[in-house]
Amino acid sequence: MRDLKAWAEIVNRRLVEIPAVIPKGRYAIGEMPWLLSQSMRYSLSAGGKRLRPSMLLAAVELLGGDVEYALDYACAVEMIHTYSLIHDDLPGMDNDTLRRGRPTNHVVFGEGQAILAGDGLLNCAFETMLAAAVKKPERALDALLAIREIATGAGVTGMIAGQVMDLYCERNQSQDIRALEYIQRNKTACMFIYPLRAAARLCCADEKSLDALTRYGSAFGLLFQATDDLLDVTGDQENMGKTLGKDTESGKLTCVSAYGIEGTRALVKKLHSEAIEALNIFGEKAAFFAGLVNDMVNREK
Ligand code: IPE
Ligand code: IPE
Ligand code: MG
Ligand code: MG
Ligand code: MG
Repeated sequence: MRDLKAWAEIVNRRLVEIPAVIPKGRYAIGEMPWLLSQSMRYSLSAGGKRLRPSMLLAAVELLGGDVEYALDYACAVEMIHTYSLIHDDLPGMDNDTLRRGRPTNHVVFGEGQAILAGDGLLNCAFETMLAAAVKKPERALDALLAIREIATGAGVTGMIAGQVMDLYCERNQSQDIRALEYIQRNKTACMFIYPLRAAARLCCADEKSLDALTRYGSAFGLLFQATDDLLDVTGDQENMGKTLGKDTESGKLTCVSAYGIEGTRALVKKLHSEAIEALNIFGEKAAFFAGLVNDMVNREK
């Protein structure tokens, strides 16, 4: 069984090829300019745990599918996630200066270029998935269904929706607890749920597997954001590679602001049980996913 590190290596090996590497100073019709290549690759190659693409690939393996075929879909998910981080850090959003152990994209390239690097990664994700789909016309419907799952997770009823309400509550200094699950499910859990659902689509999985992965992704994603909120208060900035302590300062609505540290730990425990329970139908084959959620409970990065 591969662990997270092994899956992440597979993802990283492919990500060095997409998006294209353009030599400094070069821009030519039909190619992106070097500056865009540099700014996109700056954030993409800065490290990162590669959780979402690794989980997509592990789900494909769990369902007996073709991991190699799914690889470009996994890379697309990481490109979308990286774009969301670049935009999340912008002065108009969380206004952070450290990410993945490096100065944030806008600190290095300026705000305008950082917005465009995010836009570029989002577009590149869809170009990459569509190119993979076109290579296998006999499986076009599975590919379309997978691409639709990823678009939904990242989209206006998914990650973007969560970011909108996260920002809205912060700007209005709202601690409306009813908004909290909406925000966390959308901004974070959707980018776990829908890539897992995309894996199921690529494997033509049955409804039961699709439903189990959806429930696991939801519990995992909510747990992941709850621990992110905890680590913003209790974590080590060096380990995390990003600015900490800002949630309290900016009055953001988080699990910690709503439930306190102990209340958040209790929530993490409950979500952990839900995630493990969702894996029942897969038995021993789901060991990677059980191990992963166990590791997340006490994560330090
Ligand atoms: C950070 O995600 C954004 C959240 C949803 C909390 P990760 O913690 O997965 O970030 P990287 O990809 O490892 O940098
Ligand atoms: C970010 O949530 C979620 C997305 C980027 C979609 P946070 O704002 O809590 O993530 P960090 O703490 O900056 O990584
Ligand atoms: Mg944010
Ligand atoms: Mg942030
Ligand atoms: Mg955070």
